[in-house]
Amino acid sequence: MSETAKIILDGKEYVCPIITGTENEKAIDISSLRSDSGHITLDFGFKNTGSTKSAITFLDGEKGILRYRGYPIEQLAEKSTFIEVAYLLIYGELPNPKELNYFSNSVGRHTLVHEDMRRFFEAFPTGAHPMGILSTMISSLSTFYPHSQDPNRPMEDIDLTMHRLIAKMPTLAAMAYKFAMGQPTMYPINKLSYIDNFLYMMFGLPVEDYEVDPIVADAMDKLLILHADHEQNCSASTVRIVGSSQANMYSAISAGIAALWGPLHGGANQAVIEMLEMIRNDGGNMQKWIDKAKDKNDSFRLMGFGHRVYKNFDPRATIIKKACDNVLDKMGIDDPVLDIARKLEEVALKDPYFVERGLYPNVDFYSGIIYRALGVPTEMFTVMFAIGRLPGWIAQWKEMIENREPIGRPRQVYVGATKRDYMPMDKRS
Ligand code: CMC
Repeated sequence: MSETAKIILDGKEYVCPIITGTENEKAIDISSLRSDSGHITLDFGFKNTGSTKSAITFLDGEKGILRYRGYPIEQLAEKSTFIEVAYLLIYGELPNPKELNYFSNSVGRHTLVHEDMRRFFEAFPTGAHPMGILSTMISSLSTFYPHSQDPNRPMEDIDLTMHRLIAKMPTLAAMAYKFAMGQPTMYPINKLSYIDNFLYMMFGLPVEDYEVDPIVADAMDKLLILHADHEQNCSASTVRIVGSSQANMYSAISAGIAALWGPLHGGANQAVIEMLEMIRNDGGNMQKWIDKAKDKNDSFRLMGFGHRVYKNFDPRATIIKKACDNVLDKMGIDDPVLDIARKLEEVALKDPYFVERGLYPNVDFYSGIIYRALGVPTEMFTVMFAIGRLPGWIAQWKEMIENREPIGRPRQVYVGATKRDYMPMDKRS
């Protein structure tokens, strides 16, 4: 007989099925609890609440395991490419040579954006944050492709939208950067690989040749693979919930970008460098800032430390730390901010406050450092994360649509005023 859980409410017993995942993780299915008993469950931040069944990414925070479609992240980071991982996440299997060729060519063919979009860029104020620009531009793509509005169109149309998104995201990201720098934008060159094309659009100039540094391209490819999906986090859940209203894919992804922007999520990589610069400008007294992070009356947190699900180590951080050391050594970078990062990592890893709470550097600590070493401006860091996370968001959206999931609509426990009558203005104190 299948396992069940019993919940006793006001002396009455309710039996809830236990759902077991393929990795043996267990969930109490309370989907009929409200209709049967009138009770809901309350779980701030959804720390214990599953919102869906998913076959995309498995992670075990205690053991530090991360797998995409069953494949360990360590193997993918070492042997695969970002484009292959994108295919794997979206379509569920590693592509054969023909499938990979078709997918790369299709993505390679759709890199241009409509010339009218340039006018949007011109309208943003100087200093506009590239994440705000990216989210707006991705959302505006839906207006250029009205056929994409309906998520229930035939699979070829959905495929086209997915490929367009993956193709145009780097173009739009690089355009946001170029406009911010006051430099001419670079049109994509479709014979280049995905990563090389992006680096060329970011760092190339019409007045000189640009050669992609293979160390930079390799580090970038790894970073994008590591960021490609992370199951039901803040932005992935946002994409699913927006998509569940049957809003178009561009709008759902744009909402995911907005969710990623926050410093407690993807924005942490920017926040890490800003924090390190602040510590340097303040005289480099590491202990002062560690003490502030530990002080419960102080809102300061060590950015790039801690994780909602990884409480022993972040497997992505282990991989990226190696790449980080490699890039810094090979590029011979001498940067006082990066020295502070290394010292901070050393001190925090020994401090009992951080050790007891399982707070150690997460992927964003190292990715921020690498991006800085690669010459990517700080405000673009979260944009880099968004480019990496895009296939994951698409896969999450596609799975939600294919599973015909209902519109996301949580409940609440109301704690506001009970019924009262409208009071005329002259009676109010
Ligand atoms: N600095 C100092 N104290 C911390 C930190 C930190 N970075 N993170 C957590 N704590 C403390 C927190 O005060 C609490 O202490 P206590 O038990 O004494 O009240 C304890 O550790 C548990 O923290 P929490 O806030 O309950 O943990 P959470 O799972 O809700 O939050 C987190 C996870 C990532 C939001 C948090 O660790 C944090 O704010 N980190 C800094 C921001 C950051 O680096 N975010 C990127 C996460 S990785 C990117 C991604 O996958 O999205």
